[in-house]
Amino acid sequence: MDLTITGTGTVQTSRVVVMLPYPLEGHINPMLQLANILHSKGFSITVLHTRFNAPNPTNHPHFNFIPIPGVAGDDLPVSDTGNLIRLMHVLNDECLGPVRDCLERLLSEDAGVACFVTDAQWFAVQKVADGLKVPRVVYWTSSVSAFLSFSAVPLLRHMGCFRRFSDEEKKSEALVTGLEPLKVRDLSKFLTSDPEGASKLMELMVQGMKPAQAVIWNTFKELEELQLVNLHRDFPNRHFLIGPFHKYFPALSTSLLTRDENCISWLDKQAPKSVLYVSFGSLAGVEESQFLEIAWGLANSKQPFLWVVRPGSVKGSEWLEPLPDGFLERIAEGRGYIVKWAPQRKILAHHSIGGFWTHSGWNSTLESVCEGVPMICSPSFGDQLPNARNVSDVWKIGVELRNGFERGEIESVIKRVMVDEDGLEMKDRIMNLKEKANLCLKKGGSSYSSLEDLVKFILSC
Ligand code: UDX
Repeated sequence: MDLTITGTGTVQTSRVVVMLPYPLEGHINPMLQLANILHSKGFSITVLHTRFNAPNPTNHPHFNFIPIPGVAGDDLPVSDTGNLIRLMHVLNDECLGPVRDCLERLLSEDAGVACFVTDAQWFAVQKVADGLKVPRVVYWTSSVSAFLSFSAVPLLRHMGCFRRFSDEEKKSEALVTGLEPLKVRDLSKFLTSDPEGASKLMELMVQGMKPAQAVIWNTFKELEELQLVNLHRDFPNRHFLIGPFHKYFPALSTSLLTRDENCISWLDKQAPKSVLYVSFGSLAGVEESQFLEIAWGLANSKQPFLWVVRPGSVKGSEWLEPLPDGFLERIAEGRGYIVKWAPQRKILAHHSIGGFWTHSGWNSTLESVCEGVPMICSPSFGDQLPNARNVSDVWKIGVELRNGFERGEIESVIKRVMVDEDGLEMKDRIMNLKEKANLCLKKGGSSYSSLEDLVKFILSC
């Protein structure tokens, strides 16, 4: 093995880490951050990618990019992006052969491949790694808590949860035994409108992780201490908690979409901690009626807001057509700003931001924790439910909207987080977590040490 220790303690190695990101914004961003972290530790990085949602190689000139030939690209119907369950099956079924060919070629070239790091949503590639005798390391995109909820799907099946929930159940505050802190009223969204399809995939992801040599997590020990006991008990893989990834290279841009930077000069003009940032990530969509409730709730709150409305995210509309005429100027009285896609991390770090209304995707949740911004949670499916439940009930750094999108509740929850005493207490608690997030990355901190262990582990592969 070719290995030298430099004066800065970085290991220079000829070992290659082959990475397979899952081609969706919320997955590819952290995977490319991880690639940069490993590269900074001296590894060479080769990224296998679909042509569908391909990363831009010019943004990462230090990596080797290999498009997966064949079906995994142009031939995928674009409508499949809206159909995440089908997309995951198509990718796992149809890319298996081409992924094997790529990896086999790299191995035959004696490229020094140490391991194969794949997103957990590529659950089928374990077979490829086993067949070629390459250690597979799984990267899990969400929280430990979300993973444990996914792993409890058989329990939910046993409890008879795969059915339509009554209106009463959809309001029930009872905790789900074995899935705390999830409540009964979280289950219908957690399992989506296609419980069979979603739960099957959750099970495949969990089962696909079991034989992996190791798992990399974009979280940190101090945030999920309680869940770690169960993780280590039920999944005796090697676990490396090295997050938050985005804190390693704050200036790194990995987004697939173009960000509108003009909103920063608008934010510069706002009072400290006065602005509510509103974004529901790269996938969640809303009905037109919900969109209008959001708009009225924002306007009625009288609080300044910066709102990301992704084109196509309002069902049946291209962008803002359903908004009443003169919404920003007249109804919201000039207090709002709307963009199609934003520089989210820069926004959360801005001094004028006082709250974040989010769909509770894991990246957004972690980014908010790292900037000490309390949250309003509107989770729509899957991992977003346990994430939101942790924010509101465990860490107590935000509140959930209980009734979906309803303008009266939106107005009062915004005031609670942005203005009331309650919001100040949430702010204190999230500032405490922010401090822990900073410390864990410093020398001797939990993520710092775990990354050192990960480097040793990869070198031993
Ligand atoms: C998806 C899933 O929905 C989420 O639940 C899972 O945890 C990860 O994969 P997504 O819905 O896009 O991700 O949400 P999230 O995880 O929050 O990731 C969104 C990313 O896009 C964040 O890194 C955020 O900074 C970025 N973003 C979002 C922007 O850069 N600009 C925006 O305007 C909005």
